[in-house]
Amino acid sequence: MTSALGEPADGPTADTPEYDIARPARCPLDPAPAMRARQAEGPLVRVRLWDGSTPWLVTGHDAHRAVLSDPRVSVDPFQPGAPKLSPGEAAATEHLLKQNKRSTGTSFIMLDDPEHARLRRMATSAFTIKRVEAIRRPTQRIVDDVLDRLLDGPRPTDLVEAFALPVPSLVISELLGVPYDDHDFFQSNSKALINRDTPAEERRAAQQRLADYLDGLLGEKLAHPREDLLSGLAGRVKAGELSREEATEMGVLMLFAGHETTANMITLGTLALLRHPDQLALLRDSEDPRLIAGAVDELLRYLTITHGGLRRVALEDIEIAGQVIRAGEGIIPVNETANRDPSVFPDPDRLDLTRDARRHVTFGFGVHQCLGQPLARMELQVVYPTLLRRIPTLALATELDRIPFKHDGFVYGAYELPVTW
Ligand code: HEM
Repeated sequence: MTSALGEPADGPTADTPEYDIARPARCPLDPAPAMRARQAEGPLVRVRLWDGSTPWLVTGHDAHRAVLSDPRVSVDPFQPGAPKLSPGEAAATEHLLKQNKRSTGTSFIMLDDPEHARLRRMATSAFTIKRVEAIRRPTQRIVDDVLDRLLDGPRPTDLVEAFALPVPSLVISELLGVPYDDHDFFQSNSKALINRDTPAEERRAAQQRLADYLDGLLGEKLAHPREDLLSGLAGRVKAGELSREEATEMGVLMLFAGHETTANMITLGTLALLRHPDQLALLRDSEDPRLIAGAVDELLRYLTITHGGLRRVALEDIEIAGQVIRAGEGIIPVNETANRDPSVFPDPDRLDLTRDARRHVTFGFGVHQCLGQPLARMELQVVYPTLLRRIPTLALATELDRIPFKHDGFVYGAYELPVTW
């Protein structure tokens, strides 16, 4: 079908709305009003990005899963038409293209199969439910130690600095075999990578610093292997299954994916619970592992820290939700609207720790679905009940509108969360 102008009727028009992910100031834990408005228009609608391009925004739950499980859809940012959500992201890809590089340096998260599958397979064994269960006790010890220090410190305190960042950083450091003493270094560089507005030059420098750091560690593991994930990767390098550069890039990916995300979940999950005292009491007083696991999934759904949309591009014409997406058109599957789709989650704006939220898409969907999700879930299952039981009088030490939320990141969160007890 074509319009009077000869443009396809499903094509962009002058009225195509801007892509806007700013969450509402008065309800900062709800999706952006603009995203809600797009969701009301349909499961698949056009938006206009900062560069004038008009990719498809996928707002519905079914369409989201259909796109992410379709092998004709690519995650490769070098594919023509792949959406770039910020000038920094576009400049970084442009720079690599000029150097004739086809790797973003972020390992398999930005590669299509079969390369993606080959590399991902090398790391899966560390994240099986069994392996993750084996570190539940050490994780409990880490959480208790960090809380001991927090309770010995001054009041009020910043929950991000004193608790939410150290816990997942300590866990992933131990799992990978990275010295936690270097946490200031890897946390600040990860922050630069994850911030959507980081200028391209700064992003490249941060990535290079992390790569050099991981390469150095890998060298040590090659010489003196231990019982950790990096040593496992070093073993594969020795066996000729993985190049040293590939192993380094995987280390960078897991280090930055493994702490910043979980830290934001700890911060925002605590905030959400403090704002819903009945739900907080339910979690604090329960010894039922199933209720606790369900509560963590509901918090993951409700908060959808991986907001703003994943980036994909169609390699062929495909039909999703009755709409043809042409080859070369960009696609942005939006986790936060899929997670508030009322056809899947009744009364979706209500935080209900007893609901079955397992179909949430906060970890993505399809072949790129989060590798670290068993680890993230286990950490959060330990963190929330322990925090609430050990500090039953925990309270916010500021007004909601004074909390600096991360509106600029690929991952939503807060830079600071002042709390007292
Ligand atoms: C609450 C915490 C977390 C959230 C919400 C989260 C979310 C996500 C999402 C949405 C993706 C898919 C991206 C895409 O499809 O484009 C992803 C991929 C990934 N995540 Fe996580 N993640 C979390 C924690 C972790 C942890 C603890 C690790 C540990 C290493 C990790 C490692 C990875 C890796 C390696 C990938 C790439 C998977 C692939 O491309 O095959 N994540 N994560």
